[in-house]
Amino acid sequence: MSGGKIAVVTGANKGIGFETARLLAGEGIKVILTARDEARGKKACEKLKKEGADVHFHRLEVTDQVSIDDLYEYVRKEFGRLDILINNAGINIDTDKSGMEMDLDTMRKTMETNVNAPLALCQKFIPLMKENGYGRIVNVSSQMGQLSGMSGGNMAYRTSKTALNVITLLLALELNDSNILINAGSPGWTRTDMGGPNAPRSTEEGADTIVWLATLPDGGPTGGFFQDRKPLDW
Ligand SMILES: NC(=O)c1ccc[n+]([C@@H]2O[C@H](COP(=O)([O-])OP(=O)(O)OC[C@H]3O[C@@H](n4cnc5c(N)ncnc54)[C@H](OP(=O)(O)O)[C@@H]3O)[C@@H](O)[C@H]2O)c1
Repeated sequence: MSGGKIAVVTGANKGIGFETARLLAGEGIKVILTARDEARGKKACEKLKKEGADVHFHRLEVTDQVSIDDLYEYVRKEFGRLDILINNAGINIDTDKSGMEMDLDTMRKTMETNVNAPLALCQKFIPLMKENGYGRIVNVSSQMGQLSGMSGGNMAYRTSKTALNVITLLLALELNDSNILINAGSPGWTRTDMGGPNAPRSTEEGADTIVWLATLPDGGPTGGFFQDRKPLDW
């Protein structure tokens, strides 16, 4: 169904991003696997190539506009279009239990990576998607950003994922006359460096909804928040 398409996955050297790249490649999609660390990214890329994936490495530090511009030039020159953008790279660096005590630098850094960076990538690549009349964007969010289920702790991370959901919804409204579908996907608590070893989900389970959103048919949902392929309350 999605064969021949081209996808960019951010933060794909490990964890949910790596698994998303693997699953997309399994659907016949050409994957541009990006990572901020060239050695780690290339290693991940080689691993997928050995499995037969059509995967290409390009370095991307998501908080650096020059790096985003460089990726854009590469994609445009080499492939001429982009069909799928997975904004997966993220950090969870909260250490303070209470918002009253939190270091505001934690908030700044978290927002830069988890909110500004996905927005910057959308701003850069949506015009290219428009040229081709097709796009699927998945912003990897979290239930921790769900306002209706908000509980204490992790103020910066929670705020960033709630903000990412807002960006997703607002861009979807701006794109409503196009074939560009943009959604927020929550992987659920997943065993990765971020999720830790006690998380109940495998990376394959965590990546499932992301890949589903990335391969939605024309006319599929947009501006939504999903987990396990089902809508979540905001
Ligand atoms: N695991 C969970 O339970 C869970 C639950 C809900 C949502 N999520 C979300 O799922 C996404 C992936 O998380 P994960 O669990 O796979 O985490 P992870 O194992 O810590 O992987 C995070 C990835 O993001 C990359 N990254 C971080 N900052 C970056 C930057 N400035 N530029 C480029 N890449 C950057 C990391 O690169 P390095 O290797 O270089 O650090 C790594 O590849 C995140 O958005 C996270 O918030 C995870």
